[in-house]
Amino acid sequence: MSHFDLSFVRSQFPALSLSDAGRPAVYFDGPGGTQVPQRVIDAMAHYLIHTNANHGGVFRTSRESDALLHAAHEAMADLLNAASPRENGFGPNMTTLTFAMSRAIGRELKEGDEILITRLDHDANRAPWQALAEKGVVIKEVDFDPRDCTLRLDDLQSKLSPRTRLVAVGYASNAVGTINPIAEIAQMVHRNGTLLWVDAVHYVPHGPVDVQALECDFLVCSPYKFFGPHSGVLWGRLDLLEGLRAYKVRPAGDGAPDKFETGTQVHEAQAGVLATVDYLAELGAQDAGSAEGQSSGFTGRRLALKRAMVAIRSYECDLFTAFTEGLLAIPGLTFYGIREPGRFGSRTPTAAFRIEGRHPDEVAEHLARRGVYVWSGNFYAIAVTERLGLEERGGVVRAGLVHYNTRQEVDYCLACLREIA
Ligand SMILES: Cc1ncc(COP(=O)(O)O)c(C=O)c1O
Repeated sequence: MSHFDLSFVRSQFPALSLSDAGRPAVYFDGPGGTQVPQRVIDAMAHYLIHTNANHGGVFRTSRESDALLHAAHEAMADLLNAASPRENGFGPNMTTLTFAMSRAIGRELKEGDEILITRLDHDANRAPWQALAEKGVVIKEVDFDPRDCTLRLDDLQSKLSPRTRLVAVGYASNAVGTINPIAEIAQMVHRNGTLLWVDAVHYVPHGPVDVQALECDFLVCSPYKFFGPHSGVLWGRLDLLEGLRAYKVRPAGDGAPDKFETGTQVHEAQAGVLATVDYLAELGAQDAGSAEGQSSGFTGRRLALKRAMVAIRSYECDLFTAFTEGLLAIPGLTFYGIREPGRFGSRTPTAAFRIEGRHPDEVAEHLARRGVYVWSGNFYAIAVTERLGLEERGGVVRAGLVHYNTRQEVDYCLACLREIA
């Protein structure tokens, strides 16, 4: 049984002790961005005081800075179980990285080549691929089943053709929480000789990622969604990254990941990401009794991270079961996505719902006045709200749990929702 010490977890995040409306603020806005541990804040400040320098100098600060940047790449390689830290590149955010990579990949495509995107995805995993239509690339969309918001793999299969060059799919939906079966999709896609691009932004805070086991080709995520600073991370198979021609300046390195890390990076953010991974590894090290990860031959920090993420997943599943039970009992509440606890392995603890007679913004504002932070609207997953026929009606309310949330917070949020329902 995996577990972690919730009071240790909460003590790590200074924002969790702030008050709003006369009580501790309730952060159910994790899918939009998570809070950060004190050590992340300290690491960023420490970088700016002691190590602040540009890349490639011969003096102390630059050398120390470069060592730290390398350590941040190693930390991300451990978190994602990448074969090499050279497979990880940093950038300002997932959207910018995806636009840069779609341009680099698009350079190699010809008119009539095809790309599959999905309706379940955030627009950041759609628009960068749709932009390639300008050069004659044909973009096809995979549908999802509106009854439970699961991706239609039959539709994906039927839309793969000999011209399909890339499939862009999300690991998990930031709107309705569905987790897609990425390993299965990778097999379908590779049988077709096609590349698989995975947007893991919404999944990473909720469970272990193993790019080698998934056998995907590219994967992107955003540290600010998993308890780190605002930034983005790209992972790609080294041979693919090496083979692509990046849009870059001449003096910048020609190898991976340098050629994709355009300009000067946000070094202090990488210092923060290193500390974020350190926090997660400490969480996993506390769970040393767990058998998790050992069977896959993980050791050291990779094993600790795997344990941490498995423990997080199991805690969140229990918390979400209580939350969903309460939500489904509210009169007039419509819930979108997988609702049966027996299927919670296929979703994150991100609830999307509407309350009859109330605009989603009104519900979010009601909760905000009570110190409960949730989002309303489409969260840039506009294809989802359109497909559900909700875009013209204000989308949905999204309350997303992460591992620092508690049962008391869930009960309080439910009580506030009952007031307005
Ligand atoms: C699933 C998903 N993909 C992509 C993004 C875009 O990420 P970024 O803000 O790092 O560009 C988000 C942000 O909300 C997201 O939730």
